[in-house]
Amino acid sequence: MSNIQTETQSVTYRCPSNIALVKYWGKKEGGVQLPANPSISWTLNDLFAETTVFASPKMEENQKVEFFLDGKPKPSFEPKIHTFLQRISSIVPVVSQWDLRIESKNTFPHGAGIASSAAGFGALALCMVDLEGDLQPGSTEFYQKVSICARLGSGSACRSMFEGAGIWGELDSIPGSSDEYAISFPFEIHSRLKNWKDAVLIVDDGEKKVSSTQGHDLLKSHAYAHARFEQASKNLTELSEVLQNGNVERFVELVESEALQLHAMMMSSIPYYLLIRPNTLAIIELIWAKRGATNWEMAFTLDAGANVHLLYNSEQEDDVMNFIDAELLPYCKNQLYLCSAIGGGPLKLN
Ligand code: PMV
Repeated sequence: MSNIQTETQSVTYRCPSNIALVKYWGKKEGGVQLPANPSISWTLNDLFAETTVFASPKMEENQKVEFFLDGKPKPSFEPKIHTFLQRISSIVPVVSQWDLRIESKNTFPHGAGIASSAAGFGALALCMVDLEGDLQPGSTEFYQKVSICARLGSGSACRSMFEGAGIWGELDSIPGSSDEYAISFPFEIHSRLKNWKDAVLIVDDGEKKVSSTQGHDLLKSHAYAHARFEQASKNLTELSEVLQNGNVERFVELVESEALQLHAMMMSSIPYYLLIRPNTLAIIELIWAKRGATNWEMAFTLDAGANVHLLYNSEQEDDVMNFIDAELLPYCKNQLYLCSAIGGGPLKLN
């Protein structure tokens, strides 16, 4: 039973972003935002959105929705939020009875080219399911429902609900996995892969020429789509074993291969396109050269953009920071990079 509400209620959640190790790229035909292949991500503790939702009983027939980012009205985001609310209305029916004021802020600079949709829709979904009041916040059922809602905002957002690693998409080797929602990685992660960090090297902070939505769509008629979906499933099964047995060398190979496959799919779409930039490649080459010379435990990955995520074992933090400052910064836009620990789930703030 949902709360019968007569006054304005509000709630605030913090939700981390995530970086995929095996990439979600392509949607299943039929259904809404169901993945064509399973994916796994690490949660980025320090790159998060904080969102407060004020919900009051609807005053007029049409629902009023206002969205503020960093204290400023952002009417351009409102159509996306309306689509999200419409999609979740069969799961959280009470949302259609509210007028909403949504105030959000991110720890990372807006327009730094970092996908903010995972953290943003994650935080919004947390607020909505909490305000509905049907499930105990923090319970497994609560996170499952939040993950379903977040998925309907942005697919990758459904993986942000879990401490450590989140898996989204049905796969025989992962018990409990589902296309509808993400689950927490169900096995113990080996100590060699537990305390890693991410340094996001900002290469390009501009608007992407091809959005993720368009990119996913291009997979529908992609010559290599089937092979890619099969490969992603195989990679996830193997990565799951690697996360448990601590084989760092294989971890690095799988993660880097996934990043390059994602961009290879973009380059071989019709129409084809490129999101990586010359500085993306320069950084990757320098990471390979440094790893070859030192054996430091580090791997690069990419999301749907030009920025490079440098994942590294925090035991080597000082060395990696010196390496970034001395060799990689010249290739970063405005000398900007952002660091995050891996792990940590969402947090209710009031
Ligand atoms: O959640 P979307 O629709 O923005 O898709 C994101 C896809 C990638 O970031 C490229 C990969 C992933 O699994 O997060």
